[in-house]
Amino acid sequence: MSSAKIEVPYVDVASLNTVVHDEIMEEISNIIQSGSFILGEEVEKFEEKFAELCGAKYAIGVNSGTDALILSMRSLDIGEGDEVITVPNSFVATASAIALLGAKPIFVDVGDDLNIDPMKVEEKISKNTKAILPVHLTGRPSNMAPLMEISNKYGLHIVEDCAQAVLAEYDNQKVGSFGIAGCFSLHPLKTLSAIGDGGIITTNDEDLFHKIKILRNLGLKTRDDCQFWSGNSRLDNLQAAVLLVKMKYIEEWTEQRISNAFFYHRGLSEFNNLILPVPNEREKSVFHTYIIQTDNRDELKDFLFSRGVQTAIHYPIPIHLQSIGYELGYEQGSFPVTERQARKILSLPIFQGLSKEQISYVIKTIEDFFNS
Ligand SMILES: Cc1ncc(COP(=O)(O)O)c(C=O)c1O
Repeated sequence: MSSAKIEVPYVDVASLNTVVHDEIMEEISNIIQSGSFILGEEVEKFEEKFAELCGAKYAIGVNSGTDALILSMRSLDIGEGDEVITVPNSFVATASAIALLGAKPIFVDVGDDLNIDPMKVEEKISKNTKAILPVHLTGRPSNMAPLMEISNKYGLHIVEDCAQAVLAEYDNQKVGSFGIAGCFSLHPLKTLSAIGDGGIITTNDEDLFHKIKILRNLGLKTRDDCQFWSGNSRLDNLQAAVLLVKMKYIEEWTEQRISNAFFYHRGLSEFNNLILPVPNEREKSVFHTYIIQTDNRDELKDFLFSRGVQTAIHYPIPIHLQSIGYELGYEQGSFPVTERQARKILSLPIFQGLSKEQISYVIKTIEDFFNS
């Protein structure tokens, strides 16, 4: 027998902000009265606290996760003729950042964890390779030990795409503190989110820290001395003030997402026709998304929708099979694991405001689907 219909949104951004609404409004009022809107005191405070949160020495606020990637790679002089190794199953911004610098994204297939398969990296290294760009997709850390070994062996930079992974850990170390730079998105759909666009870069390298600070502000070393051609990627004081409020809750919200994932896991593990995202003992996954895999993905998605449950697909078309990927010379069959997963993946609601009643309902609805 099916249970009474409950509406389960994929995510409810407005309600997530309700919890901090009053605190945020007070901060906004303070900022308006201060008249300081760009790169002010709040930005510096946020950068300091964010670096501390990630176990990194420095952090630089920028205006998106995409810019975090672009500026990190620019600061390493990655450009025309260079190659950067990354994955084809990420959000397109990962590869765009590489291509926009004039460099070439070189894709490597992923493993069962949906992250870069370290065993397939070495065969893609050429004399033009400058960096490896692992993406901690879904909030699960990439397998960093072998990647660090490869980077040391070949003298390659590691730039981490941490857009989905604030507070994720590998061997008890936070992501964003492994590579020369960690790039985070503060987009409204992220667990630590601005009320608009935002991004932040972590690094332990002092020279890089100073260089990125200059690059985010038109290449200006001082007010009257432009050192590099660059654009404007400054973080607003208003966003930093909002982020400082939300930062007080980030650990609690992350634990809620992990607890939601655990609840799903307990309810869904008996289904043999589902692959569940289960981190191994070296990983702390923060479940930006909770992605299950099934051969009947499209039917299950429609069934859940008909019962009031919204789901999403991250991402239905791998980057190498989008128009831009064909231009890079890739084709169907280039990355079999990524392509197989793209046909099976389904993201269930996992946001921190979800109730256990809603999760139980999603589990029951999946059970109804497989029993029907
Ligand atoms: C893996 C990944 N990389 C990069 C980005 C780009 O971040 P932003 O949207 O803040 O530019 C995103 C954003 O969704 C992402 O998920």
